[in-house]
Amino acid sequence: MVKMKRKNINNIKIISTGHYTPPGTLSNFDLEKIVDTSDEWIYSRTGIKSRHIVYDEKTSDLAYHAARNAIGKANYDMSKIDIILVATCTGDYNSPSVACKVQALLGLDRQDIACFDVNAACSGFIYALCIASQMLNSNRYFSALVIGAETLSLYTDYQDRSTCVLFGDGAGAVILENTEEHKAADFYLSAKGEMDLSIVINDKIWMDGRKIYQFAVKAIEQSINIIMHNNELIESDILAIIPHQANLRIIEKAAQVLNIDINKFYINIEKYGNTSAASIPIAFDEFMSTLYNPNGKKVIFVAFGAGLTWGAAMLTL
Ligand code: ACO
Repeated sequence: MVKMKRKNINNIKIISTGHYTPPGTLSNFDLEKIVDTSDEWIYSRTGIKSRHIVYDEKTSDLAYHAARNAIGKANYDMSKIDIILVATCTGDYNSPSVACKVQALLGLDRQDIACFDVNAACSGFIYALCIASQMLNSNRYFSALVIGAETLSLYTDYQDRSTCVLFGDGAGAVILENTEEHKAADFYLSAKGEMDLSIVINDKIWMDGRKIYQFAVKAIEQSINIIMHNNELIESDILAIIPHQANLRIIEKAAQVLNIDINKFYINIEKYGNTSAASIPIAFDEFMSTLYNPNGKKVIFVAFGAGLTWGAAMLTL
């Protein structure tokens, strides 16, 4: 049953964004040489043309470079950071966390910082933003570095044409601060644990593509409806929707069902494929670089993933 949540609005200021993708690429034409597929099949079914993949970098390296990109753009004083939160389901190790590695790589290991990872698969970045936002609004913390980072290529079975064409690697980062300004942020998170799993990322990725497709369209529709209803938003109040980039057809179908102009959705799946928890912060960073004066405008993030998990976030730029 869908619960309409009571209002719980936080004020969060977005200070900077950044992203990083590894230099190696794998195009549809490269995949044609590995499995029985074609550029035409992949592009028409998914909207993907190419993806970035790691050769020798780990998830923490991608996360670190995305963080450096965000820090560099704002010339941000790193001594302010007191939370590092990484959304990932492909961490370097079970433990330590990617967040702790990022702390060390940034040279902040002597600083008093809460560092941890969150795993909600492709919905992970929205879960992480919600946690960081609540921590900042507790007034105990001031600044959070929130990252989505994944190396899904390391778990991809390049013999399985039904999955290997979908995934790529990358990382995106956002720096958030607690603020007195009116910068409303709100979140809707949900999950439905399954006994018969429809997507598993273990040694290799396995999924029931058709089942995920149907779930995904409903999850996007429900999440956007709830976040808009809870915040009394109409389409014209929203500058853009940044969806998890899993399949162009899923986004187009959801836009149609919601009766929202597809041009409101920022889409970059063509270049990156599905980068799981990294897809929204990568897209958000690209989107932000296209804006002149976004101050006060509202954006919605929406995602779905393994678990099953799904959710949405509303942020004020
Ligand atoms: N190249 C050529 N043919 C292929 C390929 C390929 N890469 N993959 C599958 N096919 C074939 C199938 O074998 C099948 O052939 P058949 O009809 O002879 O049996 C045919 O194409 C159709 O297969 P479907 O699975 O029905 O194709 P569909 O149109 O459903 O597209 C896809 C498959 C792209 C995987 C789609 O179901 C999808 O995107 N699902 C959602 C996946 C997703 O978003 N996963 C991630 C969510 S969670 C996370 O992000 C970690």
